[in-house]
Amino acid sequence: MKLLAINGSPRKKWNTAQLLEQVVAGAQEKGAEAELVHLRDLKYTGCVSCFSCKKIGGPSYGRCVLKDDLRPVLDKAHAADVLVLGTPFYICAESAFMRAFEERLWFQYLLYSNVKPPLSPRKKATALVYTMNVKQEEMAVYGKDHIVATAKRLMERQFGPCEVLLSCDTLQFEDYSQYDTDMWDEQAKRQRHNTVFQQELKDARALGQRLVS
Ligand SMILES: Cc1cc2nc3c(=O)[nH]c(=O)nc-3n(C[C@H](O)[C@H](O)[C@H](O)COP(=O)(O)O)c2cc1C
Repeated sequence: MKLLAINGSPRKKWNTAQLLEQVVAGAQEKGAEAELVHLRDLKYTGCVSCFSCKKIGGPSYGRCVLKDDLRPVLDKAHAADVLVLGTPFYICAESAFMRAFEERLWFQYLLYSNVKPPLSPRKKATALVYTMNVKQEEMAVYGKDHIVATAKRLMERQFGPCEVLLSCDTLQFEDYSQYDTDMWDEQAKRQRHNTVFQQELKDARALGQRLVS
């Protein structure tokens, strides 16, 4: 049993990474192999629209043909039994690191067909982990609920059941006084970080255990 977790935050030790580390730890506790990949470490692009993955009889049918740092990660994602994507919201969308990864992951399997199923190995358990500054009740105002629903639908169509873990109202800075921002209540953020976020870390660990069980 192999779990692959992908971190779309460029910060390798902050909210998204910490949640994904817990998912990985939970999976390992249950005896699974689990790996966390930080997209920030890789050099790659989004889809370049070459359509090699759709070319009938082509050598790369159903698989992305690009040979950059994402290539081995896409291979690992293809082979994994469990796939977990984690990203912060950046300007009301996934981070560019994650979005480019998703284009490459999803589009290779997607068929322009009303009758044929996607070309993905449709037998994975999956999860999406999102972190963001806004509170959960504000997600719909900025269309974030729609983005989460779309990603979940794609994961379910291409792979299998998809759980979603949301971490809202995150602590963004070590010291808010150093940055030009008056929108956030640092005390409240810190309080949430010390309570709700700690519970979310536990939820992430339980998620990792569940996904490989
Ligand atoms: C470039 C950038 C854009 C952001 N845009 C949003 C946004 O649109 N909505 C939001 O709720 N938070 C936004 N944030 C805040 C992050 O989503 C939030 O702090 C997240 O938890 C950061 O994840 P990390 O700690 O794993 O890096 C943004 C942060 C950055 C750096």
